[in-house]
Parts: sequence; structure tokens; C-alpha cells
Amino acid sequence: MPKRQLVEKILALKAERGAIILAHNYQPPEIQDVADRLGDSLDLSRFAASAREQIIVFCGVHFMAETAAILSPEKKIILPEPAAGCPMADMLCADDLVALKKKHPGAVVVTYVNSSAEVKAETDICCTSANAIRVIQTVPEGVSIIFGPDRYLGGWVAAQTGRSMILWQGYCPTHQKIHPEHIEEQRRLHPGAVVMVHPEVNPTVASLADAVLGTGGMIAYVEKSPVREFIVGTETGMVYRLQRKFPDREFFAATKHALCPNMKKITLEKVAQSLESLGPAVAVEPGVAARARRAIRAMIEIS
Ligand code: 13P
Ligand code: SF4
Repeated sequence: MPKRQLVEKILALKAERGAIILAHNYQPPEIQDVADRLGDSLDLSRFAASAREQIIVFCGVHFMAETAAILSPEKKIILPEPAAGCPMADMLCADDLVALKKKHPGAVVVTYVNSSAEVKAETDICCTSANAIRVIQTVPEGVSIIFGPDRYLGGWVAAQTGRSMILWQGYCPTHQKIHPEHIEEQRRLHPGAVVMVHPEVNPTVASLADAVLGTGGMIAYVEKSPVREFIVGTETGMVYRLQRKFPDREFFAATKHALCPNMKKITLEKVAQSLESLGPAVAVEPGVAARARRAIRAMIEIS
């Protein structure tokens, strides 16, 4: 079906079903264009919880839709491609976290939302890249902190807060594709540009940046900045997101190789199919969801 017809079909089905489409900032351009709301992981799960609509098509990866499902068990949260996972989230399982907690009794467990519901259920408080520093600052000095799954976000937050943390050694394969030479090369090409990178990059890349920010933070930063050009050190979908929001500025990807294959699994065809069949919905076992919800709500309260 031609793209324009597909978009019309999605809009018609969406109205008929009383559904809403949410999309993460890394989604492909054509998905960003049909979304009712674009945002970072924190913003989207909060928005899903407060939305009037009972049917939410979540264009992102599994942990994001799952977080929305945990916060809004009464709603139908649909992930158009159930195989859109997050390899970083898969690097930490609940059994490993339980074993680590046994090794460090009394430690507070802070978990990045890029994690499974089962891991969140073993967590004291979640965080996203938007609030990780604030979350860590709520842990009293002298109390040990277990942080996972991202060693790079964890290492960056530890450096920013001066807290030492027990770090799980997970990482994002997409952000590890951004190398120091990419930043140096882009700076040579665009000498007046500001460099923004996501805290999931490795510390050498972060040390070359002007600002280390989550995707929502990048938008807020550009909004306040008088600068015209920006080098974007995160998943490439963010360049489209920024360019569309700020047409009078210029954005350059640090590298076009920083592409999250899972984010790109969502297509217009799959969104249309989801609205037609009202599936596949994300379900979380109620006991696990209740324990995970505590950790997510604890984060939202301080954000
Ligand atoms: P944000 O919360 O900054 O949007 O990031 C989510 C993510 O998956 C980064 O890779
Ligand atoms: Fe996961 Fe990395 Fe993709 Fe974000 S960019 S969803 S952390 S694999």
C-alpha cells in the first residue's frame, strides 16, 4: 500500500478505536510523523498513565511499552512489533540481580528503566537518563548503591554525584558505535557546533562533549541555546526529531552507524495492523507488576 494511503488508514483506525500513538524519539521518521506524542522514556510512560485513551499504541522497544503497562494496568498497551527488544535490558536478569543483592545486603538498588519488569520488581527505585543524578542524590551518603544494567550511565552518574556504585556491566551496543574519532571528525567539519551526547556513550566520548544529556534533555538544551549547529551523539532517529522541532537549526549525527535496529523494527504497516487487530498487547504478571510499579512510582515522585 502506498505510504499516504497507509497513513490515512492509521489515522482513520486510530479515531475509530479511540487510540493514541506514542513514539520514542528514536523512531523512524514516518512513525514520528504519525505519532500523537513524541518523547523520552520518562515522558512517554508518564503520558501513557495520564492519557484519557484506553488503547495506546507504543512505538518504541519492549521495556518502554512494558513500563507503560505496569503504570496503567487498566489500559491496553500495544507494541506493534513484539520482537523490538533492548539488548542492554537483556543483559541483566532478575536472578543475577537477586544474587548481587545477597552479596551486598543493605545496598539500595537503582535500576535504569531499560530493564525487564522482573528486574524492576527487585529494584528499590528506577531511573532514566533524565533523572538518574537526582535519583542517586536521594540515597543517603554511606549507603551502598547497586546500579544496572548500564555501566556507562552508571559510571557517568557516579562521577557527577561523587558516589561510588556497584555497577552491573551492561551496555548499549548502539551507543558503543559512537567513537571519539567520530566526534573529532564532526567537530572539524562543523567548528561552531555544540556536541551533545547521551550518557550511554563510553566515557572517552562523553569527555569530548559539551553536554551529556538524555533525549528529552537534548531538546530542552537546544531550546535554550543561542547556537545554530549541533552534533548529536546518540541514536540517529534523534537527528530527525531535533530537525523537525527546530527547523532553523542544523543537526549532524556523530555517526550514521549509531542506529538501534530494534527501534527501527516498527513500521507503518505494523502500526496499521496493530490498530486493526488491537494487538499484540504487552502483559505483565500482576504480582511482578505491583512490585515493579513501586520502583517506577518512587522515581516519578522525585522527577
Ligand atoms: P531516553 O530516555 O534518553 O530517551 O533514552 C532511552 C534509550 O533507550 C537510550 O538508548
Ligand atoms: Fe536499548 Fe540502546 Fe536501543 Fe536504547 S538505543 S533501546 S539502550 S539498544
